[in-house]
Amino acid sequence: MKRRQKESKLLPYGKQTIDEEDIQSVVDVLRSDWLTTGPLVSQLETAFSTHTEAHSATAVCNGTAALQAAMHAIDIQPGDEVIVPAITFCATANAVIYNGGVPVFADITPDDLLIDVDDVANKINRNTRAIMAVDYAGQPCDYKALRQLADDFNLFLVADACHSLGATYQQRPVGSLADLSCFSFHPVKPITCGEGGMITVNTPNSQQAESLTRRLRSFRNHGIDSDHRSRQTAGQHEYDMQQLGFNLRLTDIQCALALSQLSKLDSFTARRQAIASEYRRQLASLEDFEPLVHQEERTHAYHLMVIRCQSSRDHVFNELRQRQITANVHYRPVYQHSFYRDRLDPGSMDCPQAEAAYQEILSLPIFPAMENDQVARVSQALSEITPVNAVTN
Ligand SMILES: Cc1ncc(COP(=O)(O)O)c(C=O)c1O
Repeated sequence: MKRRQKESKLLPYGKQTIDEEDIQSVVDVLRSDWLTTGPLVSQLETAFSTHTEAHSATAVCNGTAALQAAMHAIDIQPGDEVIVPAITFCATANAVIYNGGVPVFADITPDDLLIDVDDVANKINRNTRAIMAVDYAGQPCDYKALRQLADDFNLFLVADACHSLGATYQQRPVGSLADLSCFSFHPVKPITCGEGGMITVNTPNSQQAESLTRRLRSFRNHGIDSDHRSRQTAGQHEYDMQQLGFNLRLTDIQCALALSQLSKLDSFTARRQAIASEYRRQLASLEDFEPLVHQEERTHAYHLMVIRCQSSRDHVFNELRQRQITANVHYRPVYQHSFYRDRLDPGSMDCPQAEAAYQEILSLPIFPAMENDQVARVSQALSEITPVNAVTN
């Protein structure tokens, strides 16, 4: 009876895991002197840069703000081009536009949906300033090849690592692999604090890393050179606004939750990886559904468990929903959204692998608290679905 009740509940595709320790950490801040920029911002930044082996970490209010601040830090100017993959959340490309830059879409490789390094090379021209790689679903891109390309053409390498906190490439953690890496702490992400974000800096030159970090920290606070608490501690009132910034600050309330969550990241990641192995084992006998390839020399954060459907993806999506299972689709090629279609030159909207993948991809439920019998429930549901020809979509 208990089992049946559980099975009839709608299974989400992603969900936060919050325990009593997390709750207590927030309550403690509510009783403290600082609600926004207090001691926990720098504590979180230090813990995060240690965990990711990066030169520095700068906390901001969400992942989109992290991307926007990164584009500002590398001084993207009107007309500068930044190469982004066609399959990503629209925030990746939007961040380039906030700064007046032009996102140039590169295709993805069909087996893993990560940015296609050869297509990136094809799209570099004299206006290109940066490559923004997206660790789609939680799998790191080919950073060795991307680094080589960035160095050859004197470009910044930026990682949209909003999916991949906890993953590694050639035994180095995400956050240390690109010049700047951007993270999101939205509830479905590897760790959460409601809304939150982080930028790590790890340029080969530590002086440049310091200067980028200073730009990021000032940008998140209106372009002002100091914050309220440091002025209060120093007993002085003067400040200088040195550049045009925004209020992108993360509060101490959120930092407390993020710190508590960060201490559990390794166990969250291990559980996501175990769920993914279970899915792979159970889906191996189902010809109609193919999980994306997990490449060698990388560990995968499994923010998403993405499969490609040989028959109609929308039919599978609807059938799962009828069985109280929420799937999702990540993502429609960004340039197909009307905002982009209305503005871009049609010649720049040509990523055939991304367009083909979009017809087939489906994200299955995955989150740390998901139980093995829920994984089995999804696999069983998939095995019961009678394929419908994809052309009837
Ligand atoms: C790849 C990617 N980039 C950026 C973002 C933006 O993060 P946030 O929602 O924290 O602004 C997301 C969040 O969904 C994302 O998935």
